[in-house]
Amino acid sequence: MSESLDENWIRVCEQRELAPGERRVVEGPDVDILVINADGVILAVADECSHQDLPISEGPLDGDIITCPWHDAQFCLRDGEPLSAPAYEPIDCYDIRVENDTIFVAKTPRGG
Ligand code: FES
Repeated sequence: MSESLDENWIRVCEQRELAPGERRVVEGPDVDILVINADGVILAVADECSHQDLPISEGPLDGDIITCPWHDAQFCLRDGEPLSAPAYEPIDCYDIRVENDTIFVAKTPRGG
C-alpha cells in the first residue's frame, strides 16, 4: 500500500464501507472533506458551503446533488457548481483514487 508513502492522499475507508447514498467526512489540511457515493460514483467536495462557510455534510442528497442544510443552496457534487441561491460561488472538488479496494481522497482541491 502506498497509503503511508504518498503524502498527497487521505485514506477514507474501504470501498464496501461506502455504499451508494452513503457519505463520510475526513479531516483535510484546510477544511473537512465530504466523500459521497453518489449512485456508485465516488465524489468529494469541501464540507463547507460557499454561502456562509457552514458544513454541508448533513444535507439531503439526491444523486449527485446535495442541498445545504442551512439555507437550502444546492451544489453539483461533480463540479462543485452552485445550482440555486443563496450560493453563487462553487465549492472545491477533490480527486478520488481507489487502490486495493480502499478509497483515498486528494488532500488539495482539484485545480486549486
Ligand atoms: S450556509 Fe449553505 S446555504 Fe447558507
